[in-house]
Amino acid sequence: MCGIVAYVGQQEALPIIIKGLKRLEYRGYDSAGVALLTKDGLGVYKKKGKVSELENHLVEFADLSSKIGIGHTRWATHGEPNDVNAHPHYSASEKFAMIHNGIIENYDVLKKDLLNKGYVFHSETDSEVFIKFIEDIFVNNHCSLEEAVRLALHKIVGAYAIVIVNKEEPDTLIAARKGSPLVIGVGQDEYFLASDATPIIEYTNQVVYLDDYEIAVIRDNQLQIKTIENVETNPYINQLELELEAIEKGGYDHFMLKEINEQPRSIADCMRGRLDAKNGRLVLGGLRDYMNKFQNAKRIIITACGTSWHAGLVAEYLFEEFARIPVEVEYASEFRYRNPVVGPEDFIIAISQSGETADTLAAIELAKSKGATIFGVCNVVGSSIARATHAGSYTHAGPEIGVASTKAFTAQISVLTMMALKLGYQRGTLSESRYMQLLSELETIPSKVERALKLNDKIQVIAEKYKDSRNFLYLGRGYNFPVALEGALKLKEISYIHAEGYPAAEMKHGPIALIDEEMPVVFIATKDSSYEKVVSNIQEVKARKGKIIAVVTEGDDTVKHMADYIIEIPDTEEAFVPLISVIPLQQLSYHIAVMRGCNVDQPRNLAKSVTVE
Ligand code: M6R
Repeated sequence: MCGIVAYVGQQEALPIIIKGLKRLEYRGYDSAGVALLTKDGLGVYKKKGKVSELENHLVEFADLSSKIGIGHTRWATHGEPNDVNAHPHYSASEKFAMIHNGIIENYDVLKKDLLNKGYVFHSETDSEVFIKFIEDIFVNNHCSLEEAVRLALHKIVGAYAIVIVNKEEPDTLIAARKGSPLVIGVGQDEYFLASDATPIIEYTNQVVYLDDYEIAVIRDNQLQIKTIENVETNPYINQLELELEAIEKGGYDHFMLKEINEQPRSIADCMRGRLDAKNGRLVLGGLRDYMNKFQNAKRIIITACGTSWHAGLVAEYLFEEFARIPVEVEYASEFRYRNPVVGPEDFIIAISQSGETADTLAAIELAKSKGATIFGVCNVVGSSIARATHAGSYTHAGPEIGVASTKAFTAQISVLTMMALKLGYQRGTLSESRYMQLLSELETIPSKVERALKLNDKIQVIAEKYKDSRNFLYLGRGYNFPVALEGALKLKEISYIHAEGYPAAEMKHGPIALIDEEMPVVFIATKDSSYEKVVSNIQEVKARKGKIIAVVTEGDDTVKHMADYIIEIPDTEEAFVPLISVIPLQQLSYHIAVMRGCNVDQPRNLAKSVTVE
């Protein structure tokens, strides 16, 4: 995690860096810091807490004008969040300062070695070891800083995106990456470096995505990129398509609320140019060259983490129902370490909003090394996962900034639904008429999500009633089982209420013991093939005095006589229900968290991009 920003050019660096850090705060908000080269030398300023704390702290300094600087917002890995562990870190001579996003796995060995040489460490971080290690090479080899970085990277094990500023070269920034993202914005006589494009977008739309094992040197207004083997590469300039308004709150109190409400549009954007129900057309550009492999796969393995894993579970139902190919859904963190049986006949789908999740990336590399075909479903364009996969489809949900994933989830399901329908049709497991019927219904989803969003006021009333509960259960079956898991995850991550999602029928095997008059149970009980069974499960909870909040299909006349609250959502095909049934659950968790005074967009202990294992 952690967000990094750097600037060198003709403008004042500090305001650009601070603004950039605020945009990257979703990546971590334990502490923030900047290093600036001013007339007084290379100054490092850092503070525990959010970027605003750092800003307050900087007011004490009269003159921080500088045209070059680096900044960091931290999600703590090594060492508690405090001023000392905050980045940037100085080298021993204080000639260099460095920001780092990632984890250095062999820092302990390097540190011991440096301690033996007499180095002193002020922080508990791996990053301080990293810059001191670079300086040690610089001193002993009498080489340039750039060469010292290159030599150091051959010895460093782990993930990093780093930027170093050198007191003696006021027009130079040196950056490198492996495993953590780094984007370079190329402006007119100026350069911006950041963990993603959001700090860059208002200055330039020309960017270079640094690749793993590459070192970028910006010196004297020139960008040079070399591999760590010292081979020069040609920087490829990409045009950013991101709009500034997409990364602003646009009048909403929180990004999460904005993102929940954007879903009719983000789902439509995801389908735009791909789905044309009238003419029976469904085109996923990324699949074109891999359709054969996909169609003939012996098995589909879906790998992801968190909410993306829940989208993967929905996809399991979709692929098996429509395309009749066996599917396994794997937590990337488990898959990568359990010596899985994978081979060239497997088609792997990796799902990730950020495209930077370390476990998912590692799972991809593992499956790739075993000859499998990897297809990415990512939201962030140009992200590491998008580039590590053989092919893929972007979700086009637009930037998701709230730590709790909402619109990315529905966009992921939209892409996966289109993939399943296409696959089923191509394999002949879906008849033409059924295929056409499903395409037409899929096109109506954005407007049905719009209708579901109108339930907001009712959901606020339910939130008020249960906001002080200590536990919640979420139950659903079939396509609504992953939705139950997702509803529970949303609630726990932003409101800190313990919540569990379960398949409704499993309740009798254990969790029913938890039911008493204090326990709110959210049932997703839409009119589908397991409706009658779920109604029986509702009765079982009712009999034990549990409180029932039920998400039902509009017009349902049965559950309303049993539930304490019902939330009626528009009817749709059973397979498309998760796209609608998750909406009230997102709203419920949002309102409960706001009412409990929680920081909805930046919940404690979390970060948006999980770039550590
Ligand atoms: O960026 P990714 O989709 O790979 O992230 C995976 C999870 O870290 C993410 O979905 C996480 O669970 C969300 N905070 C849930 O809201």
